[in-house]
Amino acid sequence: MMPSEQGKARGRSGGMEPDSTRPSARKPQRRRPTAGPALTSDHPHARSLAALEEEASGCERCDLYRNANRLVFGEGPKDARVVLVGEQPGDREDLAGRPFVGPAGRVLDECLTEAGIDRNICYVTNAVKHFKFTERGKRRLHSRPNAGEVRACAWWLAAELDVLRPRLVIALGATAVYALLGNRIKVMAARGQVIAPPSGPPVLVTIHPSYLLRARGHADVAAERGAFVEDLRRISALTGNP
Ligand code: URA
Repeated sequence: MMPSEQGKARGRSGGMEPDSTRPSARKPQRRRPTAGPALTSDHPHARSLAALEEEASGCERCDLYRNANRLVFGEGPKDARVVLVGEQPGDREDLAGRPFVGPAGRVLDECLTEAGIDRNICYVTNAVKHFKFTERGKRRLHSRPNAGEVRACAWWLAAELDVLRPRLVIALGATAVYALLGNRIKVMAARGQVIAPPSGPPVLVTIHPSYLLRARGHADVAAERGAFVEDLRRISALTGNP
């Protein structure tokens, strides 16, 4: 079982955060920040991202490698000032071997463009690097990674952050928030806040783009999307990127 916000975030709508987390109900998060597993984990000290990816490709630190096609490592420039952290690769990412190239990736790309941010200046990665799924007929349905899997994979995210030394990390959704900031920070309460953990780079908390896919048809989806774009727009000011 994941920490409480992860469980709650699943909500009754198969992954959507519950109604009580809608903007009107949000209270600013005032809890003392902690560093999550990705900022406290032991990790390999690689010379380069390429060396790290090579090392990670044979990862058996948890059982997820057994069913996934491959480990999907992060991608982006080695001098990226901002790192975007999602949850885990989905079906498309597992097939393509690249993060955020499926439906959630399309939403992310559109929102980055609206925010005036070029994805090519960002390093994009995930808290968990193998696709976790359940099979329904021929379909592979996303299954949320548990806390143990996030902690096991923090080994790699910590190593990526150590090589990159970014000015800012964007935590996309509850799993990334847990990996980076631990289980005291609730994603919807902290959304839009930049949190400075005791160790590591500052973390801007925001929603996962797949939340917007699941929210389609809800009255406030445009507002949710607008708030996400505004969160991403802050990347320029917070990193000093033009
Ligand atoms: N969702 C994620 O969190 N990461 C991906 O790479 C794709 C979908």
